[in-house]
Amino acid sequence: MARSLETLQKQYNTAAVTGKSPVGGGRGPGRGGPMAATNSFAGKPADTKKTLLRIFSYVAKYWKRLVFVFLCMAVSTGAMLAGSYLLRPIINHIADTATPAGERVAYLGRMLLVLSGVYLVGIGGTYLQSRLMIGISRTAIQSIRNDLFTRLERLPLRFHDNNTTGELMSRFTNDVDNIGLMMDQSLMSMLSGIINLVGTLVMMIVTNIWLTLITLVFIPIFIGLSRFIISKSRRYYAAQQAALGAANGYIEESVAGQKVVKVFNHEADCVEEFGALNGDLRGKQMKAMFFGGIMGPIMGNMSQVSYALTAGIGGVLCALGRFDVGGLAIFVNYSRQFARPVNEISQQMATVFSALAGAERVFAIMDREPEAEHDRNAVKPEKLEGHVILDDVSFGYVPEKTVLKHISLYAKPGQKIAFVGSTGAGKTTITNLLNRFYDIDSGKITIDGIDIKDLPRDFLRQNIAMVLQDTHLFTGTVRENIRYGRLDATDEEVEAAARMASADSFIRRLADGYDTVIEGDGANLSQGQRQLLNIARAAISHAPILVLDEATSSVDTRTERHIEEGMDHLMQNRTTFVIAHRLSTVRNANAIMVLENGEIVERGDHDDLLAMQGRYYELYTGKSELT
Ligand SMILES: Nc1ncnc2c1ncn2[C@@H]1O[C@H](COP(=O)(O)OP(=O)(O)O)[C@@H](O)[C@H]1O
Ligand SMILES: [Mg+2]
Repeated sequence: MARSLETLQKQYNTAAVTGKSPVGGGRGPGRGGPMAATNSFAGKPADTKKTLLRIFSYVAKYWKRLVFVFLCMAVSTGAMLAGSYLLRPIINHIADTATPAGERVAYLGRMLLVLSGVYLVGIGGTYLQSRLMIGISRTAIQSIRNDLFTRLERLPLRFHDNNTTGELMSRFTNDVDNIGLMMDQSLMSMLSGIINLVGTLVMMIVTNIWLTLITLVFIPIFIGLSRFIISKSRRYYAAQQAALGAANGYIEESVAGQKVVKVFNHEADCVEEFGALNGDLRGKQMKAMFFGGIMGPIMGNMSQVSYALTAGIGGVLCALGRFDVGGLAIFVNYSRQFARPVNEISQQMATVFSALAGAERVFAIMDREPEAEHDRNAVKPEKLEGHVILDDVSFGYVPEKTVLKHISLYAKPGQKIAFVGSTGAGKTTITNLLNRFYDIDSGKITIDGIDIKDLPRDFLRQNIAMVLQDTHLFTGTVRENIRYGRLDATDEEVEAAARMASADSFIRRLADGYDTVIEGDGANLSQGQRQLLNIARAAISHAPILVLDEATSSVDTRTERHIEEGMDHLMQNRTTFVIAHRLSTVRNANAIMVLENGEIVERGDHDDLLAMQGRYYELYTGKSELT
């Protein structure tokens, strides 16, 4: 049985409020359920005016081009209005039976030529305005995407830990696309609508002031109605975009975790859970589209009423001889045209609402606090030696739960410090703190006597080479992936690093050797081979501090021994932190820290610890299981 929709819903709504990812107890790919930690939708739409202004700030940069667009619009609208007005003398002249028929036809011919000239100018204006506007909007969307990506790259790891990839992808695709659609279509429609409205009004007043007044009576009704519908539909559009993000997040997790889903036979559950999300999305889309869509028809009907009224009263005026037939013909035409921009603008509402909802979600990420380059007053020494001190360090990922308690240690260049302990003891967490993936809650970490908070972040990370517990390879050749560790490394250095990591021989056996393209996070390599490439990537770096987090957990013992020999050379003048699964690999460490529940319970070298006959002794002699 799948989690009910309400549970899913509740999860991501709570997440929106607390900013934490809900960790659901359910199975399936979306263990955490659809997360929307940065979701701005919590029932209440954000400040519409502010969001709109912010979107426009992206196009305002091109104000010169916008002015030109505006001129083009004025020209095309002017041409249209003039064209309509020309019908008045034409109709009056044709209807004038006093003039001979031949003369009337000749007049009509001349006027048709003039009319086509006027309309051609109008078409030219419309063409230019569309082309220019698309240029402006696409450039603006380019900068929005850029800003979003830049911010995403600079956000702390905590943010990425708490958001699903699919949800974030949804912001890049759907949400940004919606903003683009609004800029392409709605912005132009609205601008030209306003010009149209003003122009037509002027022409109406010129034609007949009394009939104009009748049309104007309807304006407050139009405005009132649209206000009501706008206020209703805004929230549904925001809900729609959030539901879309949730569904996308679920799809992404299912695709990424498809192997696991199949292993546990959870396909049917997945389908059911997705069905719930999909149904929710449909419901919200229907509501959003309904409210976005009814505006046009309602306005259309209202304008029909106003049209009929002006036509009737105008007809009476004509019969009384107070108004000319040509004038009436163009007036009803104008009153139609007057309703058109109102309709057009209201039809754009659906697009505008989607764009607003999308923009809120995009800006919510842009407004996230990025990782500061450095805090306080930064110092940047020439180079670091690698004296690492942890002084009474405590840390928890969430305030309620301390993961590391009072950790103190000192590591010198050339030393190898090992962490052992059961899974979840906090080994990886220590390495996360060293390069400031997360910041410590209390205590102090220094390198060469400098608090790491005073070092520029990029400089700090440059000085720590890491082999992370979970590997990641980028699409590209083997050579490029190793060179990722130091971009200016020569081909010889790449191969030397690969030899050190015992990766050289298997790389040479690949189809294209070092130029073999790795795809899909190394799907064409074994887990162990991926680890070897990761080690090579770290080995190529000149960083004085080296961190290996279970770097050889999927490698056989013989290869591991080889790597160790290779690395011994590499470790000589560096500070090395090793987390290892097999105790045999840490035997030669200068100091071994035994971690338990976030505390160092024993420390010393291999012989000391054995002599102590404590926890390490138990682990080593097999009296107690590791992991
Ligand atoms: N990103 C995270 N957010 C919250 N808690 C975490 C996170 N990563 C690890 N933890 C928790 O911190 C504890 C220590 O984890 P970790 O340092 O990865 O253990 P290990 O010793 O196996 O490397 C675990 O209880 C784990 O649940
Ligand atoms: Mg770990």
